[in-house]
Parts: sequence; C-alpha cells; structure tokens
Amino acid sequence: MLSYKELGLVNSKELFAKAVKGGYAIPAFNFNNLEQLQAIIAACVETKSPVILQVSSGARKYANQTLLKHLAKGAVDYAHELGYDIPIVLHLDHGDTFELCKSCVESGFSSVMIDGSHHPYEKNVELTAQVVEYAHKYDVTVEGELGVLAGIEDEVSSEVSHYTKPEEVEDFVKKTGVDSLAISIGTSHGANKFTPEQCTRNEDGILIPPPLRFDILEEVEKRIPGFPIVLHGASSVPAELIKIINSNGGKLKDAVGIPEEQLRRAAKSAVCKVNIDSDGRLAMTAAIRKVFNENPAEFDPRKYLGPARDALKELYKHKIINVLGSAGKA
Ligand code: G3H
Ligand code: 13P
Ligand code: ZN
Repeated sequence: MLSYKELGLVNSKELFAKAVKGGYAIPAFNFNNLEQLQAIIAACVETKSPVILQVSSGARKYANQTLLKHLAKGAVDYAHELGYDIPIVLHLDHGDTFELCKSCVESGFSSVMIDGSHHPYEKNVELTAQVVEYAHKYDVTVEGELGVLAGIEDEVSSEVSHYTKPEEVEDFVKKTGVDSLAISIGTSHGANKFTPEQCTRNEDGILIPPPLRFDILEEVEKRIPGFPIVLHGASSVPAELIKIINSNGGKLKDAVGIPEEQLRRAAKSAVCKVNIDSDGRLAMTAAIRKVFNENPAEFDPRKYLGPARDALKELYKHKIINVLGSAGKA
C-alpha cells in the first residue's frame, strides 16, 4: 500500500470546498506521457493554480502504473523546483470497477472516480458506496456520476445520452457518501460533441452548438447546496486548432466543442472541477502536424514533441486564467 501522502499529493476535499466558495473551478487535465505532464505542471506553477492530474484506465495501461506513481512524485518535485508548491491531486478518471479503484488507492492515487452512470440507478448507488467505503479509509476522495454523457467514456460507451435527473441527486449523495458528483447537462467527450444537425451555423458557416442546460445545473444546486459538481467533456475544441490540423494534412470534420463563455459561467457556480482532455490532444496534434508539414525531414522527437509541449502549456494557461479562474488559488 502506497499512500498518496508519501508522494506529496493531496486529495480534492479542501480544494473543492475553496473552489465552490470562491466561484472558480480546478482544472482536471488528462495525461498519458511526460510532455503532457511537464506542460501541465509548468502552466499551473506559472499561474499558481491547483491542479488535478487525471489518468484514465487506458492512460494507466499506456503509461504503466509503476512509472505513473514515480511521475506523480516527480510532478510534485518538479513544481517545487520551478519555485512554487501547488496542490496536486492524482485522480483516476472514469474508473469502471471497484477493483480498479482499489488498485489506484493502493498505488498512490489521492482521488478516484467510480463511473456507474451506465448502470441502473440502484446498482450505481451500490457500486459507488462500495468504492467510497474503501477509499475513505485512506482519505482518498471519490467522484460519482449521475446521468450519461454522449460519446465514448473510456471503456464506458453510450450511444445515447441522458441528462442528470435533479430529483435523484440528493438521494445519491446521501446514500453513497461521495465527495463530488459529475452531472450530464449537455457536454460530451471528444472533438465532435454535436452533430451538424444538432447545431446552427453563424454567418461564417461556423457550427454553433446547443447551449448547456444551466436550468438542470441550477436545479441540482438547489437540492444539494454547496456540493462540489464536476463537468466532464468540457473541451471547447478551438476552431483555430482544427484549422491548423486540417491545413497541415489532418482530416477532422465537423469538430465542435463547448463555447468557453459557457464554461466560464459554469466555473462560477458549484462546478468546481472541469475535465479537459481533447483540447490538449488537438493542441499537440496541431503543433506536430505543422512541424512535419513544414519540415518533412525532421525525425528528432524533441523537435516535434517540444513544440507540442509548448503549445499545450499555452493552452492550459489560457484555460486556467481565462476560463476556469483558478489562477492564483494555489
Ligand atoms: O473521458 C475520457 C478521457 O478523455 C480519457 O480518454 O480513455 O482515451 O484515455 P482515454
Ligand atoms: P473532453 O473530451 O471534452 O476533453 O473531456 C474530457 C473528460 O471528460 C475526461 O474525463
Ligand atoms: Zn470524462
């Protein structure tokens, strides 16, 4: 058993309490490799933002769990070396079984998500409560989910989405003892969050997605006042990144995300954790495609992963400062 405390990590409890009170959200950035981790830590140290390092089960397999715990410890030391000790959470994203959550608790994670949202309600309650009972023994915080997002949720896939039912949240939180709750109000995973048919187009032909269901969020907040809410699928899929990708040999069609002003509005509410993965993937891909297109003879990975890392860092700083409001909150 390796406690996250030995790695210098923190759980999300206090961070969320402060974020809800302060009207901002903590960034939850997914990572799979060294360059992503370097960019996240550098951006968060420069902006003095707390951060949630998020690892999906796919990422855990990709990066190797032994290396991951050393990377997490390395992240803490790296932040220190850069000159500011920001609070760092290591979080399992979309855990789908009790065993996976247990294994993460035992290997240095300070927070886990148990995503039982695809199960019937009673089964979701039972599974989530089981994870909470175990994780809380070790002071590890737990995120649950109610309502199903469209798109692919790691190994949890759902063709249809359904919004969170506000009438279920109070009972769910009470029966499970979760520390935070992910809800479905119209966000979804990936770079194609809506079909063109679900969107309207502005005069320049740009797709405008349907607005988030702030009415559901408000109803949830009324029923569990001050309780930490999590937003998954919160990438904005910047048009300028899609343009760079497609003008350098990429083929991303009809990509569309959540407009940043809606995320800003959400971050001011009880939404205190905002998950961003796809925008980072797009920033890296855009930078790498540009290098390859402009210099096809390049084959030193540092010459394309370096620019990708720089682009990622800028993207994360932008999210922290201009969207989530977490700058200076470390
Ligand atoms: O919500 C899912 C995250 O974007 C992680 O994606 O399973 O491809 O690592 P992944
Ligand atoms: P995006 O695909 O919108 O970045 O969402 C990521 C996410 O929710 C990870 O859990
Ligand atoms: Zn997610």
